[in-house]
Amino acid sequence: MKNIMVTGGCGFIGSVFIRTMLLDSDFKGRIINVDKLTYAGNPDNLADIAKTIPGRYVFIKADICDAEPISHAFDAYQIDAVCNFAAESHVDRSIVAPGAFIKTNIGGTFNLLEIARRNLDRLVLFHHVSTDEVYGSLGDSGLFTEQTPYRPNSPYSASKAASDHLVRAYSKTYGMPVTISNCSNNYGPYQFPEKLIPLMILNALENRALPVYGDGSNVRDWLYVKDHCLAVWEIMKNGTRGETYNIGGRYEMANIDTVNMVCDLLDKIKPRDDQSSRRELIEFVKDRPGHDLRYAIDSSKLENELGWAPLESFESGLKKTIQWYLDSSQWVERVKSGEYLKWVEQHYKE
Ligand code: NAD
Ligand code: TYD
Repeated sequence: MKNIMVTGGCGFIGSVFIRTMLLDSDFKGRIINVDKLTYAGNPDNLADIAKTIPGRYVFIKADICDAEPISHAFDAYQIDAVCNFAAESHVDRSIVAPGAFIKTNIGGTFNLLEIARRNLDRLVLFHHVSTDEVYGSLGDSGLFTEQTPYRPNSPYSASKAASDHLVRAYSKTYGMPVTISNCSNNYGPYQFPEKLIPLMILNALENRALPVYGDGSNVRDWLYVKDHCLAVWEIMKNGTRGETYNIGGRYEMANIDTVNMVCDLLDKIKPRDDQSSRRELIEFVKDRPGHDLRYAIDSSKLENELGWAPLESFESGLKKTIQWYLDSSQWVERVKSGEYLKWVEQHYKE
């Protein structure tokens, strides 16, 4: 793999993947980052990379649903691998407005596959980044394995499931070299504060309410974002073509315990003026419709076949994450004020 097209590289996980690949891996080639820069795509996430190693990093503002710019980038940069992170990624938004999820997650993946198919002679790999949410919800016991049937419950997870099926079909039908990864909930630096952990950190710092859906007993299995990125690169290099790999950190937590932990760590690192506990900010609010009860990933295939293991525990990763949000006040301010979006508008007005 010499010229990897990374889609959605200005988002949370994509930006950490690109930084890891260029600064902290054995990859020696070039990354071509294709991102539409939706509200979730923030050029600030990679500003340092764009400045320090321009020779190995190219940014193209484009929609993965559009054939012309993607096709052109394939030719211009001799793309031999794709790593598809681009997606609409937030479940709550998919409940309110599912259209963009269908368009980007299904239509965009289809468009990428079609262009990759036209370049099959050069293509080494199409890696598709997906989620454990395609498997639906677990009861109190059991784990998702690669054999668990797909039973998505939200428009987000249904759109991701459809895209996974398309990628698999291109492998079976056209012999395309593909791999798919289904990962559990990520957290870490650069995560947009609509997702549980960054929302709780930033609200708690401003003494605002911490909205916990339902009774807080829903369980998520957390993985530090860099561990996810290292797993994706390991699968891209050594994963069996045509196969799916589950990625998870074996850190199941009920949401209320996660929120309590965020409060307690913040209280230790940056106590409130009156020394009171931030737990008092927690408010139980109306539950999310179709709220999946529990996710838990069995990642033994990845561990046994490829020797991957997470480097961070939930506690060490959460400490690092909280510290990053405390240290990154400029990033936080530009996200909260929407300044980064204004910059994109001005910079790209044709
Ligand atoms: P994100 O919302 O932070 O970033 C998505 C990125 O995709 C943004 O930069 C956005 O601008 C870009 N994008 C959206 N629509 C696009 C389009 N039509 N064309 C080009 N770019 C477009 O998402 P994330 O949390 O970084 O997730 C990345 C991928 O990982 C997604 O495919 C998601 O399904 C998957 N995933 C996420 C998690 C998680 O916990 N966040 C867990 C497992 C899998
Ligand atoms: P989220 O970060 O949206 O990820 P996902 O829905 O993909 O798992 O939510 C994680 C869990 O936290 C999920 O069970 C919903 C819950 N949640 C809250 O309780 N309050 C919130 O404000 C948010 C955003 C999520």
